[in-house]
Amino acid sequence: MRFFSRHQRQGLLTHLLAALAVSTNAALDGNPLATSDQETLDAFAIKINQDDNFTVLKAEAKAAYKTAHGLPISDEASSSIDAAIDELAFSSVQKAVNSDTYFPKVYWLDAGPRNWFGLDVPGGRYSYDNPDCIYRTIPIDSSLSYVITGYRHTPGPADVTFSLISDPNSQNTVAYLSGSDLVIDSDGSYTITVNSTSADNQTNHIQSTTSAKQLLIRNNLGNWGTQKPDNLTVELVDDNSSESALTEAEIILTATWNLQESIVDYGVGALGIKTSLNKVNTLSTPSQSSTLGTLTTQASSFGHFNLSDDEALVATVTQGDADYFVFPLTNPWMITTDPASQVSLNNEQAVANANGTYTFVVSLEDPGVYNWLNTTGLHEGAIMVRWQGLPTSSSSSTSSTASPAVDVQVVAFSDLASVLPSETRYVTAEERASLLAQRIAAYSQRTTL
Ligand SMILES: *[C@@H]1O[C@H](CO)[C@@H](O)[C@H](O)[C@H]1NC(C)=O
Ligand SMILES: *[C@@H]1O[C@H](CO)[C@@H](O)[C@H](O)[C@H]1NC(C)=O
Ligand SMILES: *[C@@H]1O[C@H](CO)[C@@H](O)[C@H](O)[C@H]1NC(C)=O
Ligand SMILES: *[C@@H]1O[C@H](CO)[C@@H](O)[C@H](O)[C@H]1NC(C)=O
Ligand SMILES: *[C@@H]1O[C@H](CO)[C@@H](O)[C@H](O)[C@H]1NC(C)=O
Ligand SMILES: *[C@@H]1O[C@H](CO)[C@@H](O)[C@H](O)[C@H]1NC(C)=O
Ligand SMILES: *[C@@H]1O[C@H](CO)[C@@H](O)[C@H](O)[C@H]1NC(C)=O
Ligand SMILES: *[C@@H]1O[C@H](CO)[C@@H](O)[C@H](O)[C@H]1NC(C)=O
Repeated sequence: MRFFSRHQRQGLLTHLLAALAVSTNAALDGNPLATSDQETLDAFAIKINQDDNFTVLKAEAKAAYKTAHGLPISDEASSSIDAAIDELAFSSVQKAVNSDTYFPKVYWLDAGPRNWFGLDVPGGRYSYDNPDCIYRTIPIDSSLSYVITGYRHTPGPADVTFSLISDPNSQNTVAYLSGSDLVIDSDGSYTITVNSTSADNQTNHIQSTTSAKQLLIRNNLGNWGTQKPDNLTVELVDDNSSESALTEAEIILTATWNLQESIVDYGVGALGIKTSLNKVNTLSTPSQSSTLGTLTTQASSFGHFNLSDDEALVATVTQGDADYFVFPLTNPWMITTDPASQVSLNNEQAVANANGTYTFVVSLEDPGVYNWLNTTGLHEGAIMVRWQGLPTSSSSSTSSTASPAVDVQVVAFSDLASVLPSETRYVTAEERASLLAQRIAAYSQRTTL
């Protein structure tokens, strides 16, 4: 039986206004992701992916993922592994096509499949892609100087970070510029320099060291309908006139290396050690680290679920000092199934409890709860909750910080009402349909030309 919200009318009005904002926002300005550099690199990545199928490495990756998952592997889980490995291989190619430090471009990757510019771009998601996050890369050589020009729309992303990393696969951070330290001019524009000069007392400067390879820029969208990723371009300061661009053979070699490393970093590391070692239907205590693709200002909690048709996993999240958190579901191979379905919710999309915590329901069937996470028909999958914008261990003033936390329990679907907080917001079928329509419209802005 469903409880019909007293706020149904108010809710529908809010939805209508948000849907209006989506269309207005899209009409006013272009899409910061649909650049000609993006088109060039997407086309190049597709070509390389067709020229080399990475057959042997894909088989190795598949074996490693299966080992990391452990037995048993259900038919349901088996049915999505090949597609996950294809995406992993394409992500390795995408990282490689924008690795030319003398001819740097800004490239959006780690996203689902899309059709744009007349190109059928395969998905390149891997290791817990966050549906809120626009991941973009810029290749960096520490002997060279770069100027990055940005433009912040209103409203901009919920969380922005610039991580200079030593390896595009393990993603170890060597230098970091936090969005909260970024100085933006009154007209929305900003420039960031990246070179080997000391970063002391320099605003908008990232100091590169010899191990630096790539700048990884994260723009996390809280409200997908209204928040836009920043415009970003990069210019090399040094002369590149005597340099020639990397050859396709060199790029294939880099892609091969990326895939080899990915097998270890994501197969053994993320899936095996971080995920599968946890007891089923539990989530690890949130922890902060600067390795394996996590941010220094981020805490993460990992887990995997196995639910029957008539069970639900109930999770209560404490935001703590984080500016932003997201609760995303993936298939057993750490890839979001359909981001346009409600497979993730962040602190701006979800409804909070009276005391500021958030309660989510993970289940196959729709319980009519606002904060429902749709497993998209899957009984098994993985979860990586993350909290961002936290003080780093060096900057935190110890005792005053509130720690992120998450509690989970599995209950019978029919017992949900008795375990959910009394203030739980329910939705009607119409509200659910409207929320989903909004989500799909907002998501499609990312690939609107
Ligand atoms: C930002 O990028 C969009 C899409 O390319 C463009 O329409 C808009 O003019 C850009 N804004 C600025 C201030 O550069
Ligand atoms: C890659 O796969 C395609 C389609 O299956 C096939 O046509 C092509 O020959 C393969 N290329 C290589 C290098 O294996
Ligand atoms: C390196 O960055 C610093 C700080 O922004 C800047 O003053 C300097 O001009 C840059 N060096 C080069 C060669 O561009
Ligand atoms: C940075 O600024 C602080 C305070 O203004 C000063 O004490 C320090 O010497 C400066 N460091 C450098 C490298 O200029
Ligand atoms: C480097 O090469 C690109 C592409 O050919 C060109 O547009 C750019 O102006 C060059 N930059 C420098 C500093 O020479
Ligand atoms: C999921 O749970 C069911 C029922 O308890 C069990 O039969 C199955 O083996 C479990 N699957 C995995 C992958 O552990
Ligand atoms: C749940 O996800 C599936 C798969 O994406 C979709 O077909 C279904 O409509 C979703 N259910 C609801 C109620 O949104
Ligand atoms: C906050 O409220 C939720 C929902 O009622 C409850 O589960 C949780 O224990 C509360 N947390 C604290 C710290 O009071």
